[in-house]
Amino acid sequence: MEFQNLLLLKPSQTSSTFLLSFFTTILICVISLLLLLFKRKLWCNCNICHTYLTKSWSKEFNNLCDWYTHLLQNSPSQTIHIHVLNNTITANPRNVEHILKTQFENYPKGKPFSSILGDFLGNGIFNVDGDLWMFQRKMASLELGSMPIRSYAFQIVTNEIKFRLLPLLSSYSLRNNQVLDLQDVFKRFSFDNICKFSFGLDPGCLELSLPLSHFANFFDLASKLSAERAMVASPFIWKIKRFLNLGSENKLKEAIRNVHVLAEQVIRQKRKLGFSTQQDLLSRFMASNSDDIFLMDIVKSFILAGRDTMASGLTTFFFLLATHPEVMTKIREESKRVMRPGQELPSFDQLREMHYLHAAVYESMRLYPPIQFDSKFARETDILPDGTRVKMGTRVTYHPYAMGRVKSNWGSDCLLFRPERWLKNGVFCPQCPYKYPIFQAGIRVCLGKEMALVEMKSVAVCVLHGFDIELVEPLVPLGFEPGLTATLRGGLRVIVRERVVGHMGMASWSM
Ligand code: HEM
Repeated sequence: MEFQNLLLLKPSQTSSTFLLSFFTTILICVISLLLLLFKRKLWCNCNICHTYLTKSWSKEFNNLCDWYTHLLQNSPSQTIHIHVLNNTITANPRNVEHILKTQFENYPKGKPFSSILGDFLGNGIFNVDGDLWMFQRKMASLELGSMPIRSYAFQIVTNEIKFRLLPLLSSYSLRNNQVLDLQDVFKRFSFDNICKFSFGLDPGCLELSLPLSHFANFFDLASKLSAERAMVASPFIWKIKRFLNLGSENKLKEAIRNVHVLAEQVIRQKRKLGFSTQQDLLSRFMASNSDDIFLMDIVKSFILAGRDTMASGLTTFFFLLATHPEVMTKIREESKRVMRPGQELPSFDQLREMHYLHAAVYESMRLYPPIQFDSKFARETDILPDGTRVKMGTRVTYHPYAMGRVKSNWGSDCLLFRPERWLKNGVFCPQCPYKYPIFQAGIRVCLGKEMALVEMKSVAVCVLHGFDIELVEPLVPLGFEPGLTATLRGGLRVIVRERVVGHMGMASWSM
């Protein structure tokens, strides 16, 4: 009987132990949540926070960035604060200069940002501050700033255009009215370029018959899911999900694991091929550092820096060109004037002479910046030049997308695509970099800016020379996926037609 009792008792004792630990865990979570509530607001009834939390902005606006633009346009200081995100957002160039240059030390990327992207990017240049950042920046700027490296990059891009991009467009133009997603094409194109340039390896992605490389796919997923972390009202939410390995966090973990495996393969392959005589960026880093984790972080940061931004810039540029034939005509006329008859690809110097093209590229990214916003965290309490008080630990975001669309920055025609606004007597005139922080500005300005501009201009000249581009649907207003870089929802579906059918990419320069 006693033994039977013991048998009967044991399961209930086990379940009470289980229940006890279950309730203890719940209690700990609730206490942590309450503690967090004391530190951070998870709910706020002000109009802006309420609209954010209920997502009711989406009834009127296609994208979150359009709603922010509307708020910033109507704010007298061009600055707003979203209490539930503890995020001060500004479109005021004086504030941007203060954050990115004058008080640079007070506005690092900060812990909250590096923890959002830390699992994915580790200690790569995009995700760190201080000495770790400084070392990578010095090394990379030596590389990206030198003339031989710039012409090496130019060579890579022109080869990719000549031997892959133009033949691919040509083959599509022969298949009558077959729809092509230009965004997908540009993602593949820029993935090939950045891998060849940064690692000296060619993934050969711009073969539409091939699936997009696994690396690129996992990379997309990891960057999308990491960006979603920044959108929840409190980091506590994604951290709990990560701890319990739930939902999107589970998927993110898997994507990151795959990115790591593939980045490791890149390093291994480089070692096998030998890197001491190579010109690419990774070889340079490998010569001074043998830590694989660090090298993998560099690989990931450079793909992020140079792939999606380029694809995004090119996609929206071609969207604008397709909807503004007068701009397309002027670019064609200018390239005809500068290049020799029958010349296939523009040279570096010829591109420099094309002021209208340069203005059109700038104007395109004013309206559609590849990185729509960028956040820092205030180390100490501070006052911004417009009088906004920023408490220690506040997220401070400058918003290039909104900055390009507020009247006080660009006048009443700010929503028009008008390259002429950048020209004086036909010569390109740059504007204040803090009013146009498309490549960031100040101390941490983008290191690939010149390379990116040359790449965009080369593609535009060559594609417009050989092809007409027609949108399949109007796409206005444009819708963006949530993510680290601006990606069009549904892609950019077009039909391409060769202008003067001849040998691939060899159309004549007749207008
Ligand atoms: C249209 C194309 C591009 C745009 C709009 C762009 C824009 C930007 C922006 C806004 C940042 C600052 C990001 C942040 O700190 O969070 C940045 C940083 C950076 N970009 Fe670019 N970028 C472009 C292309 C490239 C390319 C092609 C490369 C490399 C080959 C590159 C390399 C870098 C690097 C290394 C950084 C980090 C700089 C640092 O933190 O010190 N970018 N870029």
